[in-house]
Formats: sequence, structure tokens, C-alpha cells
Amino acid sequence: MKETGAVDRPAARREERRSLAGCFYRDPDIFRIEVDEVLAKSWFCVGRTDAVSSPRSFLAVDIVDQPIVLLRDRAGVLRAFHNVCRHRGSLLFDPGEGSLGGAVKCPYHAWTYGLDGRLMGTPHVAQGEVDRERLGLLPVRVAEWQGCAFVNLSGDAPSLESWLDAQPDRPRAFEKWNLGNLKVAHRTTHDVAANWKILVENYHECLHCPTVHPEFVALIPVYRTGAVDEGRPDYGVSLGAGTRALTASGQTSLPPLPELSEDEALSVYGAFIFPNSTVDIEGVFATVRTIIPRAADRSTVTFEYLFAPETVEQADFNPGDVIEFNELVIAQDTVVCERVQRGVASRAFESGVYPKKDSGPYAFDQFYGGFLGPERMAAMQALVRRR
Ligand code: FES
Ligand SMILES: [Fe+2]
Repeated sequence: MKETGAVDRPAARREERRSLAGCFYRDPDIFRIEVDEVLAKSWFCVGRTDAVSSPRSFLAVDIVDQPIVLLRDRAGVLRAFHNVCRHRGSLLFDPGEGSLGGAVKCPYHAWTYGLDGRLMGTPHVAQGEVDRERLGLLPVRVAEWQGCAFVNLSGDAPSLESWLDAQPDRPRAFEKWNLGNLKVAHRTTHDVAANWKILVENYHECLHCPTVHPEFVALIPVYRTGAVDEGRPDYGVSLGAGTRALTASGQTSLPPLPELSEDEALSVYGAFIFPNSTVDIEGVFATVRTIIPRAADRSTVTFEYLFAPETVEQADFNPGDVIEFNELVIAQDTVVCERVQRGVASRAFESGVYPKKDSGPYAFDQFYGGFLGPERMAAMQALVRRR
């Protein structure tokens, strides 16, 4: 009888750069550890603060599976709390945004909290019966940068400033463009059947661009080669000759973002902020993407499209062409990321290999591994092997 496919795998070359082990992309126990040890200990981006820009406004979101509410108090201070009543644990806010009266009122027994979290009212329960001092809303560390909100659930991350300074993609270089002044004109949310790290790795490389994004590489020449940058000192990537914007036609009637120079307006810039967000400056618009991991094989991705307020206020403002084109690229990336998830679910997948042009995802994997530390990384893998 003839047989094929006998397993005889030569050992990997010593200098070969490997991706994370397959279990990091598919295993639910590893995901649980990751939530506590990576996501909770980071400055996790919640997205733009437009919904909580005025006093007494709120935004309730789930970070992985933790309900959080951000609110702006009367004095304009941004605060965050666990979205849980201290009486018997009712959720205070459904996910979403809105404005508050003077207080937060629990829908169950109507306990009320000040916008600073203090427990103020306990109807039909005498003052002395419960220790109001101790039963305020549980605060969450929150900070703002360039119009984006970040929370640190563990409470012990270094300052957001030093966190941003430590990012390999140097997002603070974008501060010169005053992104905090931009407004969200459109938002899209996608449920993606892929591990959050697969999405991040995909963001960091363009080896897939010539195959997956034919329309995109037609506008950005260097992407045709699978490279992510041109070696420019400002790390920008140039649009092709005659291309004015990332739209199907390469043209647009929208003005460039106000703070960009002429050269910058014909370039694109991107930065990843560990663990879950990207900021991209794309001439006439910018996007902030937040990835919320939901399970080992599932993520929610939100894109917020930003423009100058004076552009949004124009009577004929129509961002349709840039949104449509960006959503095409997102849809193309979603297809391949979900395909990777289905592939890495195979036990035959031990880890991937990173050639030179994959140095971005490799650097991300190294950053992730460094964040957890070699011992914990090894313990996580051992946990999977023991089963
Ligand atoms: S659970 Fe909120 S008032 Fe009772
Ligand atoms: Fe892509």
C-alpha cells in the first residue's frame, strides 16, 4: 500500500524568527490569563471622548467582559467607575452614551451616587444602616490623550504619558497635529471571528497588501512591494503621484486635516498603541481603531472617523468616499484574519515564521512576550501542554 504525508519535519533554522505559539491565538485558558495579566495591566483604549465631552455626559462600555462607565463631572473632570451598584450589584447603565441629571441612580432600588462616585441616597434605608462613606462607586483609573480615553483596570500601570513614550510606533509624534481638536463624524463596529493579536499582527505588515488589497496598493506605491515604510525620517508613507486621497478614484473634495503640511497631507502615518488601538492619519481624515478582545477567537473592532470640526460643519460635508474605501480595506483584512483564526485552530499549527518584511508583527510579539515576561509565557504554554 502506498502512503504519503509521514511526519518528518526538519528542525527550524536557528536564526528563524517565529510568531507566538499557536496556543496564544486559540486557547481559552491563555485568553483568561491574558485578560488579567496584559489587558487589565495596560492602558486600554476605550476610543474617542466625543460622547463624554460635556459635563454630565456618560459613556458605558464593556472592556472585554467588565462593565465600565466613563463620565464627565460638573467641573469637567473625566472619571471612570465600575458600572456596578454597591447595593446588590445591579448594572447601573446599559452600554451606550447619554447625559445625566445631577446624579447616577440605580434602576433597581434607586440608590443614588454623585458624579464623583459618592453614595448620596439610599431610599427607605436609614442613613446609619449602611456605611455610605465606604459604598461609593468603585473608581477606575482613566486618562485622556489627544481626544482618546484610556483606562487602566489594575490601577498600577505607569502614567499614560510614560506608557505612550514606551510605544515603538512613537504615537506622541502625532501630538503636533492636535488630534484632540478633531471630531468623530462616523463610526463603524465589526465583530471579527479572530484573536485580537491576529488583528494587531495584520495591522503591522503589508506583505499581504499586494494580494489582499489591490485597490489600496494602487494608491500607495511602496505597499506594492509588501514593505510598510519608505525609510522616511518622519516614518510617513507617500501617496502615489497624482493621488490626493485614499478613495476609489484617488481624488476627493475634502480638505486636508488643518495641521498637516503639504507633504504630510499627501502621506499616511500610523501608530499602534499597545495593547488595543491604532491611530492613522490619512490626509483628509484620521481614524482611531479600538479592538476589544471578547474571547480567544473573537474581537469587536470599532473605527472612528475623524475630521476637523470646521469641515464637518460645512453644509456639503460628505465623507462617504473615504469611509467607503477604508471599509473596503477593513473588510478585506477581516476576511484574511478570520481565515488565519480558522487555520491556527489546527493543532498542526505550532507557530508562524516571520521573514524580514514581517518585522512589525515580530516586534509586536516580542513586546507582548516582554510584557508578560519569559517565565509567565513559559508557564502559559506549559498549562496547555499539561491538558
Ligand atoms: S442594586 Fe442598586 S439600588 Fe439595589
Ligand atoms: Fe491589510
